[in-house]
Amino acid sequence: MRNETVNLMLNRKSIRSFTERQPSEVEVEVLLEAARQAPFAYQAYSILLRRDRSKNPFHAPLTFIFCADLYKIERMMEIRGWKRSMNDIFTLLLAFQDAAYAAQNMVIAAESLKMGSCYIGGAPLAAPSLRKEFDLPPLVFPLVGLAVGYPGENPPVRPRFPRSFTVIEGKYPRWSEEEVSAAMEVMDQGYLDQDYYRQAGFMIPLKEGMEEKYSFDNYSWTEHISRKLGLWESSPERIEKLFRENGFLGDEKDQKTESPL
Ligand SMILES: Cc1cc2nc3c(=O)[nH]c(=O)nc-3n(C[C@H](O)[C@H](O)[C@H](O)COP(=O)(O)O)c2cc1C
Repeated sequence: MRNETVNLMLNRKSIRSFTERQPSEVEVEVLLEAARQAPFAYQAYSILLRRDRSKNPFHAPLTFIFCADLYKIERMMEIRGWKRSMNDIFTLLLAFQDAAYAAQNMVIAAESLKMGSCYIGGAPLAAPSLRKEFDLPPLVFPLVGLAVGYPGENPPVRPRFPRSFTVIEGKYPRWSEEEVSAAMEVMDQGYLDQDYYRQAGFMIPLKEGMEEKYSFDNYSWTEHISRKLGLWESSPERIEKLFRENGFLGDEKDQKTESPL
């Protein structure tokens, strides 16, 4: 059973090229209203907006940066005479979700307005410069950027793992090599059929001394993701430092909470 909303979701694809057309103020307002109406745990997030195309990696007219924001929540609690006892990690898990659901609401709203969007995952690493640019107080941590504008390209819908590899009813299977390989094949052949990495002109370079065995004829998604997860950021120090610089992970807080699940 399909309807307009489901079709919109099933046909969405990330857009990395944008036209000169400027979204109107009313359209920006609609995007923000849709984002703000997402489900929330604490509304522990803020949205930064930048309209400078030159600072967007895809030259999109709008860049939204979704941040976890415990600053304003603690200000609210202060007025109520409370101090947060919930530890930073659990609080951040919820704040991340608040920000993410708002962001995804905006993605779908943009799609419905015939705009396109693409997430920009490097926002946490840009925390120091974003903190300066937006004069962010402590406890506001950038999670993800979202480029939004009118699409200047119409790429195909990208592949996904097979449903059976993603959705588990009953006991979680111990995947056999054949099952994992079959799921990998769907992703790899899907991206190869779209000539994705050749068109993007991008293969993650290996470390010195590692032999490159791939070309654009066989380099595909599972190798790409394996290289990201296998080569990048082995130490947690950088991200931990960024959290600390933004006021998180400092003092010890602990509160035992019962989970309903
Ligand atoms: C948290 C997150 C970070 C992402 N970061 C980037 C990014 O930095 N650059 C980029 O081109 N795409 C980025 N993407 C988009 C994904 O590459 C894209 O959603 C995925 O390849 C599937 O393609 P589709 O959105 O067209 O279905 C990101 C997506 C998410 C959810």
